[in-house]
Amino acid sequence: MRHLLTRTIRRRVIGALTAGLLGAAGLAAPALATPRTTPATAPAPTDGLALTPPMGFNNWNSTQCRAEFNESMVEGIADLFVAKGLKDAGYQYVNLDDCWALPTRDADGKLVPDPERFPHGIKAVADYVHAKGLKLGIYTSAGTKTCNPAGFPGALGHEYSDARQFADWGVDYLKYDNCNNQGVDAKQRYTTMRDALKATGRPIVYSICEWGANKPWEWAADLGQLWRTTGDIGDSWGSMLSILKQNLPLAPYAGPGHWNDPDMLEVGNGGMTDTEYRTHFSMWSVMAAPLLIGSDLRTASPATFDILGNKEVIAVDQDPLGKQGAVVSSEGGRWVVAKEMADGSRAVALFNETNTAQRISTTATAVGLPRASAYTLRDLWRHTSSNTAGTISATVPAHGTLLVRVTADRKWAEQPPAVELRLDGSPFTEAGRTVDYTSTVTDLGRTAAERVSVSLAGPAGWTVRPTSPTTAGALPTGHTLRTTWRVTVPEGTATGAYDLTLRTDYRAPNGVRASSEVPVTATVVAPPPHGVSYLGDLPWLSTVNGYGPVERDTSNGESAAGDGHPITIGGTVYAKGLGVHAESDVAFYTGGLCSTVSARVGVDDEKGGAGTVAFEIRADDTKAAATGVLTNAMPAQQLTADVTGAQVVHLVVTDGGDGIDSDHADWADAKLTC
Ligand code: GLA
Repeated sequence: MRHLLTRTIRRRVIGALTAGLLGAAGLAAPALATPRTTPATAPAPTDGLALTPPMGFNNWNSTQCRAEFNESMVEGIADLFVAKGLKDAGYQYVNLDDCWALPTRDADGKLVPDPERFPHGIKAVADYVHAKGLKLGIYTSAGTKTCNPAGFPGALGHEYSDARQFADWGVDYLKYDNCNNQGVDAKQRYTTMRDALKATGRPIVYSICEWGANKPWEWAADLGQLWRTTGDIGDSWGSMLSILKQNLPLAPYAGPGHWNDPDMLEVGNGGMTDTEYRTHFSMWSVMAAPLLIGSDLRTASPATFDILGNKEVIAVDQDPLGKQGAVVSSEGGRWVVAKEMADGSRAVALFNETNTAQRISTTATAVGLPRASAYTLRDLWRHTSSNTAGTISATVPAHGTLLVRVTADRKWAEQPPAVELRLDGSPFTEAGRTVDYTSTVTDLGRTAAERVSVSLAGPAGWTVRPTSPTTAGALPTGHTLRTTWRVTVPEGTATGAYDLTLRTDYRAPNGVRASSEVPVTATVVAPPPHGVSYLGDLPWLSTVNGYGPVERDTSNGESAAGDGHPITIGGTVYAKGLGVHAESDVAFYTGGLCSTVSARVGVDDEKGGAGTVAFEIRADDTKAAATGVLTNAMPAQQLTADVTGAQVVHLVVTDGGDGIDSDHADWADAKLTC
């Protein structure tokens, strides 16, 4: 486990203009693995705890063990739960993580709260929280000590006495970690604490935190109400994504009173964009994950409160049927995940893993709904409703998620038709150039869209001109208004990503006005230089990196820009190159003008023996060259790729199949020939 979470510096994610360019055929949609309408089959839990996934707060992701984790913080969070409507939205548990205790037990073997952090003890905090109608959670480890190197006491061998102490303090929730476990069998350790909690007679939610190490989903349903399925989350896109992918396949194991726990929320901690945080929150909700806020609400932005307080999304997480959403399709980073709801509707996430906008598509029957002439489609982030004849489809921005609830009810006729908006054309342009785009507005509804108009707005100074009609009298089901556009980028525009907005306004047959909007990104690029260049000297389009930023001409130092060392592989030092950390993807614009990428690649010497990675050069979506798994013991390998004709090349590093720990990877002497 990593105990100090390094904050990933924002990378620039460049969205392409449209999925139309990227092969927009509808996705094959295999039937859901779960039955269509049968209720959850898991045995009814006897203790009645956590019948829906626990919701609350835990300090770890924002403070770790820093001094700001103390009584006033915890009570301040409880105050905000009430003041900001989060209690009303369902958040209930205020949980303390590691470092609340002193390192030594007292003469009677009892745990002692740290008097600096909790001057009035834990019972006082519990009383404070209870007085607000909330509940208190605490933390210890199923080992001799907790995870923090300061060596706080763990409960192994003290289970009954510690559980008694927690119950006497009024604790309602225990997170039970796995550090310093002395190699004692996990099931045995977690069972003893289950029995000890039971013996107190107090209902205490029991959160098993052994990081998925012993497949707890196979044995912990009778022990605790939730079990971690993965290692610790970090506040980065890469970390959130990798945890999401590990937790998705475990859907069959979740149900009322026994939940998969993909770790606490990072929403609001600053390492991801709000789009990425909305994806994080949407996907945790579709997975019926515990929703434990991990940001310090005392300094949180309005956008953070908007995300965490979205009651329509929370209702997906808290649905009483208790099903974890299952993957309906996933292809090329375009995911469709559907969750059966107690009222027979389906929550459907169209999730775009990729760095460019993508068209993602499914149908009502593919997500498990019965055949019907039309359905009500509710957008849970925009809070708007429409009707669809069956297609659920949208252009989803890079790293974004469209979250909808689809119902086979009779109310659909009250809603305006859903429309799908797309913009096709090159995602790249240059300053001073003119680009042509085509927009389409397609009626997905059972009813016609009437008096339809479409508009495209560019950044200040850009000229956007339609070159064909922008209106249509009526679009019946499945019909499209197609419009061509000429966009001129002003001379001198700096390279980078620019937002355009495609919008349509229309009316339902009953006269009700409706509109829809999609953000699209145009990337202004400079043509690659002629001849041979070091890639470390060129601007990149986008980077994804496991820890910290990608470094130019040094290794990856894990946290801040410029904290690396001279690139060194097998004792050889290289002056030029790129230093990254798996999982990594550094993209460069080549505009079809380049021929070769070459580099000396390997694991940097700085991390000792542990790192294992694999390198890959991609020309657009094609693998152009790759290594096998390289270890720290190996010298640099030569990797050369023919990238003729590619618009974009990607330098990709994966984790060698064993997680990203210590995976400091170097692209030494990386060169591009154009
Ligand atoms: C482990 C857990 C984390 C956190 C820390 C505290 O790493 O997985 O969630 O509780 O310990 O030290």
